[in-house]
Amino acid sequence: MDEVLETRIREGLEANRTRTAPPPEAVPVPPIPVARYTSAEFFELERSRVWQRSWIFAAHESDLPSPGDHRTFERTGAPIVLVRGEDGAVRAFYNSCRHRGAPVVREACGTSKRLTCQYHSWSYGLDGELRAVPDERSFSGLDTDSLGLVPVRCETWQGWIFVNEDPLAETLEDYLGPLCEQMAEVNGPSLRRIGSQVHRVGANWKAVVDAFLEVYHIRTVHPDNAALLYDDSTVTVAMLPKGHSRLTVGVRPEMLGIMDPSPAAENPSVGSLLRETSTSFGVFPNIVAPLDNGAFPWMCMWPVDARTTELELQWFAPDWGDGDTPEENTLRMTLFETVMAQDTANMAAIQHSVESRGAQPFQIGWHERLIHHFHRAIDLAIGESEIPEGAAVSAALDSYVEDA
Ligand code: FES
Ligand SMILES: [Fe+2]
Repeated sequence: MDEVLETRIREGLEANRTRTAPPPEAVPVPPIPVARYTSAEFFELERSRVWQRSWIFAAHESDLPSPGDHRTFERTGAPIVLVRGEDGAVRAFYNSCRHRGAPVVREACGTSKRLTCQYHSWSYGLDGELRAVPDERSFSGLDTDSLGLVPVRCETWQGWIFVNEDPLAETLEDYLGPLCEQMAEVNGPSLRRIGSQVHRVGANWKAVVDAFLEVYHIRTVHPDNAALLYDDSTVTVAMLPKGHSRLTVGVRPEMLGIMDPSPAAENPSVGSLLRETSTSFGVFPNIVAPLDNGAFPWMCMWPVDARTTELELQWFAPDWGDGDTPEENTLRMTLFETVMAQDTANMAAIQHSVESRGAQPFQIGWHERLIHHFHRAIDLAIGESEIPEGAAVSAALDSYVEDA
């Protein structure tokens, strides 16, 4: 991480630890209307304006190591298939045959030389081009050159593969902006996936994201783990462009080093700030990644419906060379499950509460402002004029968005 930025963050940690009142720059954070968590109309707007127009994390390079490897991705509601071509590039297509719409890939993942539809066996190259039509003589005027699979924008940053259904979207790097530089030190291409955990939560996806954009709750929800390790009073955050964010919280001095990975499981390219603090990045719309010099989860919140979310933790670890995953990586995953169980336990109850007639707007502290920032980015992605009556969040914090 840039030295100037790191110094600024460290100063922020100390200033927050010692302050006895809101910091001088703090302003009241406007409340969050709860209709955002319950409205079917709002959910549909998110579907078409956020999920179909943002860069969405779909897979890691290591999920498709060789030409012909493919996997389907349906988290945003559209049937998408990712394929690694003969040229080594990963491409994405709608998993929909140009004959009569059947999926060309049915299994979640696999390897093949061609993608062959199981309905009437039209078959496509790994580049999406239509290669063979059985009984082609029965089609009159079929222009096979123009009947390739329909592409979906697909770009990779540091080994993480993202898709975007908007053909006119900016590049992934432009979208990620300062995150590219700030997250680069984990050296994504050197990481290996060590496992995934999925939790089905009975709450709107935004309520799940909210829970990972603040550490205000750790003393009450995680008294026996995170709160022992981190001093939440230090929390220092940045509202980055396009709804992205960064949150840093200091490790309690007496706990420094306690979570250090062994040399075999550690990431040498990670700098001192990520070693001495917990620094997590929010990648709009649905990822929170607490980067680390050991194994860390890439937390993805996938909406199922307006009141159901799948919280998926995809775990990555520094390449350990030959042999099995170091045991400490597996141990981290297991320990983190305790934290996840504590986090998810009250989410369905919050959903129940916001759906009641007595539901009131959420009051947000300055130290929780990333939540407001995330919700504001959703409104901007949907379009302010399109937000249902009474459901919008305020623009009052827009001037607090930082470039880095
Ligand atoms: S729908 Fe694919 S071959 Fe007919
Ligand atoms: Fe938590």
